[in-house]
This record gives sequence, structure tokens and C-alpha cells, in this order.
Amino acid sequence: MAEIQVGLGERGYPIHIEQGCLARVGEQLASRKFAKRYAVITDDRVEVLYGRQLMRQLAVAGIEADLFAFPCGEASKNLATIGALASRLASAGFDRKDGLIALGGGVVGDITGFLAAIYMRGIPFVQVPTTLLAQVDSSVGGKTGVDIPEGKNLIGAFYQPKAVHIDPEILATLPRAELLGGLAEVIKYGVIRDRAFFTFLEERREQILALEAAAMNHTILTCCRIKAEVIEQDEREGGLRRILNFGHTIGHAVEAASSFAISHGHAVAIGMVAAARIAVAKEMLSRDAEQRITALIAAYGLPVAIPADLDRELIRIYLKTDKKVVAGKVFYILPTAIGATCITDEVSDRQLNQVL
Ligand code: NAD
Ligand code: GLY
Repeated sequence: MAEIQVGLGERGYPIHIEQGCLARVGEQLASRKFAKRYAVITDDRVEVLYGRQLMRQLAVAGIEADLFAFPCGEASKNLATIGALASRLASAGFDRKDGLIALGGGVVGDITGFLAAIYMRGIPFVQVPTTLLAQVDSSVGGKTGVDIPEGKNLIGAFYQPKAVHIDPEILATLPRAELLGGLAEVIKYGVIRDRAFFTFLEERREQILALEAAAMNHTILTCCRIKAEVIEQDEREGGLRRILNFGHTIGHAVEAASSFAISHGHAVAIGMVAAARIAVAKEMLSRDAEQRITALIAAYGLPVAIPADLDRELIRIYLKTDKKVVAGKVFYILPTAIGATCITDEVSDRQLNQVL
């Protein structure tokens, strides 16, 4: 078992990473006593796979709990779901001494965290992430929220969980496309912050794709360690935390321009390669390093180029209207070496057009 502490003072929390730990979440919560009873919030797919199992062991540990599920998918990540879940909590008599457990991927985590932030002006919640993306990224760091028709994640709050329990064994049932999407975020950490981890991802590709326990434990632990270090220095994304958006500037625009036909993970993979190429054009990154980044992304079965038939003009429009645009400036996270990045708005139209 590995445990990392996210050092945020009174908002700090442990991240437990352990194969098979889903079977021990009840025991662990019984000893921590964050809340007197819990609502397990999940989606209808994860409910069937793991929800009942978690409910059984909460009961064995003597923890009173209800389970509330909503239809899986991004389409549920909205204010209507928040309203419906809040009504179910209130009808079931949940009060400010009670807590929530987010059992699921990033959609469940973002909804549950936001609900916890606003129900009775804030109740405790625990993350039990079940997708790779959620285990290495969304369950840590306290970004919570929902979408509105005008854009993704436009309503939300920074609200940290009390604990994160990560069971890598759960990934065995994850569809391959979801696993690859998570791996794009994993590669992101290597490029932005950790050269040795990047090499590990090059060398252990087969073991990682086969979800071999030692390789997965190291992978998830390293990503969570890096994310925790970044959050500790910049919890509310005033500066450093923006490096976690590496690949997301062009990635989000590609995702939106494809009307979300290109998945988030695939779009981030394309965005990371584009950012590396811009960095080469700006003479900030060596061509060798860019080629290693591109080769690693391709080796994991992720795309490295914007599809030829995707409207470039639409990508430019989405780049300029992204919510991360500040005072009309588009910011790019560019690698300066494998394991190092910079944040800049100095990308000329020519440099952008070259990669588009
Ligand atoms: P998701 O939550 O929609 O899960 C993907 C699919 O996998 C769902 O159908 C789900 O039911 C299913 N699933 C989950 N676990 C499974 C398992 N173990 N086995 C089989 N199926 C399983 O998607 P996601 O990729 O986990 O998360 C995407 C969301 O995360 C987006 O809304 C994004 O905005 C958000 N996000 C948030 C942060 C943050 O910091 N808060 C960071 C990155 C992404
Ligand atoms: N996923 C980016 C962040 O948490 O800041």
C-alpha cells in the first residue's frame, strides 16, 4: 500500500493507493469518522459493477449508507442532476454531519464534489475513483463542478475531499478507450514534471497496458504525487497549476471543433504533440525531445495529428473562446525539455498555423 498526503493544512488529506482496497474502504472510513452516515453517489454503470459491493462492505463495517445513482455520461453533469441529488439527500434526511462518497469516474467525482460543496453549505466527501483519468487526475485537487449549455465546467467550486481511496484493480473492467484516455493524462505528468517517469512510461508500456500491478501502482502513485505537489503550491490555479493543462489548450479546441466526436483523452494527446511542435518552432525544445514525446504518445495507441478533415478555422475560433483565455490572450503550456515546461501567451499566428 502507498499513501501520499496532500499538504493543504486543514484542507489536507491522504491518498491511499492499494490493489484491492475497494474491499477495505468501509473499514478505513469506520476508523476515520468523517461523517455519521454516507450517501454513495455513482452512475448506473458503476453501480452495477461496484456499487452494491461497496454498500455491502459499508454495512459490514457498521456504516449507515444510501446509494444514489444517475445515468452515466457527461450529459448528466449538469445542474439538474445536482438539484435531483440534493432533493434525494434532503428527503432521506441527510444533514450537515453526513457525508458523500463519490464512486465513479470524473463525472461522478465532479458532481459529487460540487454537491458536497453546496449541500447545507458544505458537507464532507470522499473520492473512490474508478477510471484511470479519475485516479490520476480528477479525484485529487478539489476542482468540482458541472457543465451548462454555454460550456463545460463553467459552474463549480474548489472543494477538497477528506480522503481519496484508489484501487487500481478496478481498472480491469474499464473499456480500452477510457483506459487510453487516462493514459494521455499520465503521459502529461511525465512531460511536464518528471523525466524519470517519462522513461518509465517508455520502458514499461506493455506492463502498463496489461494493467500489471507493480507498474500501475507506480504509475498512479507518481501522477498523484506530482499533482499533490502542484496543488500544494497553487491550489486555486493562480499560476503553477496551469501546467496541468499541458495539451489541453489545443486539445479542448480540437475536442469542441469535432463536436466531441474526438474524446477528451485523444484530443489531449493531439494537443500535447501540437504544443511540443510549437515549442520546437519557438526554439524552446529540441527536435529529439519532441520526437520522443510524439513517439511515446503514438506507442500508447493515441493519435498524434489533427484529423485532416477537421475545420482549422473552427479550431482557431474555439481557441479564442476557451474559458482559460485571459484578457483575450490564449495561454499555452509548452515543454522546454522532457520534465520541464513554461507557460506563455507568445505564440504567433504563424507558429500556430504551422501546427494546425
Ligand atoms: P466518466 O466519469 O464519464 O467515466 C467514463 C465511463 O466509464 C462511464 O460510462 C462510466 O460509467 C464508466 N466507468 C467508470 N469506471 C468504470 C470501471 N471501473 N469499469 C467500467 N466502466 C467504468 O469519465 P472520466 O473520463 O472518468 O471523467 C471525465 C470527466 O472528468 C469530465 O467531465 C471532465 O471534465 C472531468 N475532469 C475533471 C477534472 C478535475 O480536476 N476535477 C480533471 C479532469 C477531468
Ligand atoms: N485537471 C487539471 C487540474 O486539476 O488543475
